[in-house]
Amino acid sequence: MTIGSLIQSTDSALLHAGLGRLDVELILGHVLCCDRMYLYTHWSQKLDKRQIKYFQSFCQMRKKGMPVAYIIEKKEFYGYEFVIKPGVFIPRPETETIISAVLSQWSHQERLTIVDFGSGSGCIGLTLLALFPKANLISVDSNLEAIKVSQINARNMGLEKRTIFLSTSVSGLGKGDESWLKAQADIVVANPPYISFDDERVSEEVTAFEPPEALFSNEGGLYHIRSWLNSAAQLLKPGGAYFFEIGDKQDISSIEHKVDKMRRKREYRDFSNIIRVIQFQKCHG
Ligand SMILES: C[S@@+](CC[C@H](N)C(=O)[O-])C[C@H]1O[C@@H](n2cnc3c(N)ncnc32)[C@H](O)[C@@H]1O
Repeated sequence: MTIGSLIQSTDSALLHAGLGRLDVELILGHVLCCDRMYLYTHWSQKLDKRQIKYFQSFCQMRKKGMPVAYIIEKKEFYGYEFVIKPGVFIPRPETETIISAVLSQWSHQERLTIVDFGSGSGCIGLTLLALFPKANLISVDSNLEAIKVSQINARNMGLEKRTIFLSTSVSGLGKGDESWLKAQADIVVANPPYISFDDERVSEEVTAFEPPEALFSNEGGLYHIRSWLNSAAQLLKPGGAYFFEIGDKQDISSIEHKVDKMRRKREYRDFSNIIRVIQFQKCHG
């Protein structure tokens, strides 16, 4: 069997199960350790039995609903490739809106201290670090598995010397006397858990495979948004900015005036024209 005939035969079987050709190509690329372009330029290359067996068992996992990112253990974000492992949130394309928002306000050569709350795979903070060569990053997540994965990603991207990793909770900051709380950050970024526990729109593929603590939040989905806004206020220097993602049409009006020293500044829309990122600014004085 060749690359081409395997793709074509599996394609129709998986399509029948509601899965796309992209999945097939990503999985085969993973088995052969190559990119998708290689598949098209080596369409007639013969596959051995072991390769076919691996490919078929990965396709079975996909048919059972496992996200491709967990099968191939990687996901692209803002053009960079991130290692992903089960137990760690899979980066979403709409989160790239945070990167564009920060880029619209700062120039690449600035010396910035950036803090990434709930950093997961590290996709937001590490992408910013790659784009701002004089910046430093504090990457914080309560999930130790996520911190380990973000350390792998930092190493792969050659960014580990400019990053501090902390496995701790972001909620309720300011009570401890840890030195990083005196960071005087220029920018804090976050994609907090913001789905209400009673939201029925979340797909089974997400709830069955992704870590619940990365998804759901109390207070109708607002708990983390509210408490992390307070935490950002502790860390930012006057004039510093906090960029965070919100859910589709999520209403944060009930909490936004309750935070001391932080004022809403701007909002940013994603590629579907949905308001996705909110920017707050820490007041001077
Ligand atoms: C929606 S995921 C975002 C991950 C990553 N920033 C991204 O955009 O792909 C939320 C992250 O917040 C972390 N998290 C949840 N509660 C937390 C807390 N109290 N303190 C720190 N991190 C927390 C989760 O482990 C998860 O990695």
